[in-house]
Amino acid sequence: MKRIAVVTSGGDAPGMNAAIRAVVRTALFHGLEVLGVERGYKGLIEGQVDELTRRSVSGIVNLGGTVLKTARCERMKAREGVAKAVETLRKNGIEGVVIIGGDGSLRGAWKLYKASGIPVIGIPASIDNDVAGTDYTIGFDTAANTALEAIDKIRDTATSHERVFIIEVMGRNRGFLALQVGLAAGAEFILVPEIRYSLGKICRELEEARKKGKRSSIIVMAEGAGDSSEVAREIARRTGYEVRVSTLGYVQRGGPPTAFSRHLASVFGHEAVRLLIKGRGGLMVGMERGRVVAHRLDYAWRGRKKLDRKLYRLNAILAT
Ligand code: ADP
Ligand code: F6P
Repeated sequence: MKRIAVVTSGGDAPGMNAAIRAVVRTALFHGLEVLGVERGYKGLIEGQVDELTRRSVSGIVNLGGTVLKTARCERMKAREGVAKAVETLRKNGIEGVVIIGGDGSLRGAWKLYKASGIPVIGIPASIDNDVAGTDYTIGFDTAANTALEAIDKIRDTATSHERVFIIEVMGRNRGFLALQVGLAAGAEFILVPEIRYSLGKICRELEEARKKGKRSSIIVMAEGAGDSSEVAREIARRTGYEVRVSTLGYVQRGGPPTAFSRHLASVFGHEAVRLLIKGRGGLMVGMERGRVVAHRLDYAWRGRKKLDRKLYRLNAILAT
């Protein structure tokens, strides 16, 4: 193994740069050459590759986003796109690839590996934390802390105006981010796609709370759990309370990665290169119960990651 490539793909996540840095520095330490692919699979298909040096990754460990840029690329879902991507690998003499991204990017990584026979290692990076085979993905902790900071601020105005606030957080079609943030924020309710909720019950509990003097409430709602504006209108109609919606949006995707996001990025980047040097491929690195592990790449989506319902029930106890 003499020459490898590193790619960031899909939704960007804080910590991707720390992962790029770990891949490059580990590879150079072991005498490998490293090529950076720009703009995810789009760049791979179009042959946008550049040599990376120690200096290429200086001063980026603390930066959100990805210096390699990222993109979403429908062509990679088709055989033709995968073939073009393989062609780029062969043309550039690339003998190993590290793909940093979420579950969609890891699906592309698996296809690239199967089509080329070239070792490919996936590093799970997404604010959604919706990748099986790792307890946490790079960026999830940072997004959770960013959202928490925003909710703590919103709580001030909710209290002052005695309003109910629905705060919509990202997470695509899963509730991991909403549950993590809602519990930390002390939200009265957390709405996630995985667990059915009753607006009637929520309204009754809001009215009960108000009778006991709790005149403002925070509801954290995952974007995949429904239409937050519709939920707000319905609660206002049934209770007569002032209800406001705050959609946090893309602020959750940026900012300096937390220590934990950087920790994951560093150990994952190092482990990915170590696996390539050993000639391993078709794997995804992860962390389970504090230990770095490696699963077959397709486990990332076939391993259906479950929401921790015990945490969901705990929030109901702590919020009352
Ligand atoms: P994320 O990796 O953050 O989950 P996406 O789901 O958008 O983001 O996937 C990122 C990119 O990975 C897509 O734009 C596409 O290029 C590639 N990809 C996603 N799903 C597949 C698939 N089933 N087969 C091949 N490539 C895929
Ligand atoms: O996958 C990360 C994510 O931020 C999701 O939480 C969100 O639904 C999606 O990306 C937004 O996609 P885009 O960046 O293409 O608008």
